[in-house]
Amino acid sequence: MKILVTGGDGQLGSSLKKLAGDYPEYVFKFIDLKDLDLTDFPKVYSFIEAFRPEILVNCAAYTAVDKAESDPDAAMSVNADVPGDLAKICRETGTRLIHLSTDYVFDGKSYRPYLETDPVNPDSVYARTKLEGENRILEQSVSGIIIRTAWLYSEYGQNFVKTIRKKGEELGKLRVVYDQTGSPTYAGDLARAILEILPEVINFQTMELFHYTNEGVISWYDFAKAILELSGISCTVEPVGTRAYPTPATRPPYSVLDKTKIKERFDISIPYWKDSLKECIANLNASR
Ligand SMILES: NC(=O)c1ccc[n+]([C@@H]2O[C@H](COP(=O)([O-])OP(=O)(O)OC[C@H]3O[C@@H](n4cnc5c(N)ncnc54)[C@H](OP(=O)(O)O)[C@@H]3O)[C@@H](O)[C@H]2O)c1
Repeated sequence: MKILVTGGDGQLGSSLKKLAGDYPEYVFKFIDLKDLDLTDFPKVYSFIEAFRPEILVNCAAYTAVDKAESDPDAAMSVNADVPGDLAKICRETGTRLIHLSTDYVFDGKSYRPYLETDPVNPDSVYARTKLEGENRILEQSVSGIIIRTAWLYSEYGQNFVKTIRKKGEELGKLRVVYDQTGSPTYAGDLARAILEILPEVINFQTMELFHYTNEGVISWYDFAKAILELSGISCTVEPVGTRAYPTPATRPPYSVLDKTKIKERFDISIPYWKDSLKECIANLNASR
């Protein structure tokens, strides 16, 4: 079975690449912007038609949440036009599509974890473009799954874990928001889950939504404290409210996703956030 992974150099793409060797039954091809610009529809069409993957995992996205506020056209192009185009090509070539979306499609005003069926209300350019991407895929009647995830971190690229370690060492004092609550997701765990469910996704005849994050619920403040503690970095962390830390894009105050559906449908268990954080930090320390 041939699997094409777009966004192959990003956090999730790199995590899939790292684990690919554990799945010799699949032939993987990883591509990123340097290989093929996904906004170039004719080229993308020819590429997929020639490679003919059974499954396409689209990890490519415009993920600069704050930058998107002043660059909405670029965000819309990668986060909405591209998924719509990929879905069209996948439908025409009989390819199953696995696409990634975000907890930011919700406004974060809930009092309990969000279900896949809950009403969406995106509150930033990034969030609106990602929701539009979901809708464009659904319009195409392509088969596969959309996985909404949140607070993604890994050994690769830029993310909260790496930033807190760097800034914590440099400054010895940080201010981190305590009134935004969610669940971190180690990209290695999400990648493993995607690879484990491939044999079932190949038989999907519809497009379905799922939620995936690590287990547990914390604030960014708690997360920063744990990152520094597990990294052995001595640094004071001051909890601050979102109002004291304004950003161009609004973040949902509560973005916990309910994962019952993905766990039950695919019979998978999901690691606890702190166990996964320990794994990621051990890998980061080992690569120093
Ligand atoms: N990061 C998070 O906290 C988070 C949270 C919730 C959901 N998600 C979703 O999870 C998925 C994976 O996120 P991630 O953190 O792994 O993303 P990432 O590290 O930013 O990787 C995205 C990749 O897509 C590539 N890309 C961008 N525009 C492209 C284009 N026009 N053609 C081809 N490739 C292009 C990027 O290349 P360049 O780097 O060269 O631009 C990058 O390698 C995304 O759908 C994201 O929206 C992420």
